[in-house]
Amino acid sequence: MKPPSSPSPNQAPAFAAVLDDSHPHPDERRAHWEKVFGEKDEAEVSWFQTRPAMSLDFIRRTGANPSAKIVDVGGGASRLVDELIDAGYADIVVVDIAAAALAKARARLAERTGRVQWVVSDIAQWQPEAAFDVWHDRAVFHFMVQPEDRDAYLTTMRRALKRGGHAIIATFGSNGPERCSGLVVQRYEPETLEAVLGPDFRRIESMHEEHVTPAGKVQAFQFSLFERVQ
Ligand SMILES: C[S@@+](CC[C@H](N)C(=O)[O-])C[C@H]1O[C@@H](n2cnc3c(N)ncnc32)[C@H](O)[C@@H]1O
Repeated sequence: MKPPSSPSPNQAPAFAAVLDDSHPHPDERRAHWEKVFGEKDEAEVSWFQTRPAMSLDFIRRTGANPSAKIVDVGGGASRLVDELIDAGYADIVVVDIAAAALAKARARLAERTGRVQWVVSDIAQWQPEAAFDVWHDRAVFHFMVQPEDRDAYLTTMRRALKRGGHAIIATFGSNGPERCSGLVVQRYEPETLEAVLGPDFRRIESMHEEHVTPAGKVQAFQFSLFERVQ
């Protein structure tokens, strides 16, 4: 874990703005992810973590109490939901484009799913029914490499998050891989992510993490915590 980066003036990131086979049309996203989760076991994917420690640490830093409404966007088969249940959180929503991913998490949790709400939706099109205290995203926003996709994601996030609520967004860092799951990603430093989120969100703190994949490769991530201020 590296220390937080020091804030610097907002600057626009150099975007990866290519549309090719590795960057599917929105209609093809679902098929891509259903195939990935249909073919691979939970622990075979590069983003697998036995315990999402950094995510939990950031959720704790929001000060969210057990009744807080928390959404894990693009949660996939992540074990974050297991940890949140263990920590006593009772109002959890997991959204993912791939039903196969959520099915894995539900099967693992079995009767422990309790009141978890599972939503199959493209985050860019999701219409949340209630306002959340915490929005958590690990390794999803960085797939939004086209401006219209980023805009749609941020529209959903603004709609979903209460004023005063917190967003935790983890992406590949500037030294991270250029692709994930065969798809081109947009890499960020905390400052470039802050610039993309705009003035509605105040960045509180950021950390870098070196994620070690099940195959032993090291991937640079940045995690940033924001407050929705307007
Ligand atoms: C790299 S995985 C990360 C999964 C999980 N957040 C974790 O940390 O283990 C990306 C996840 O985002 C989901 N995803 C990709 N694009 C999405 C979209 N537009 N809307 C909702 N989910 C999406 C995928 O199905 C997959 O579960």
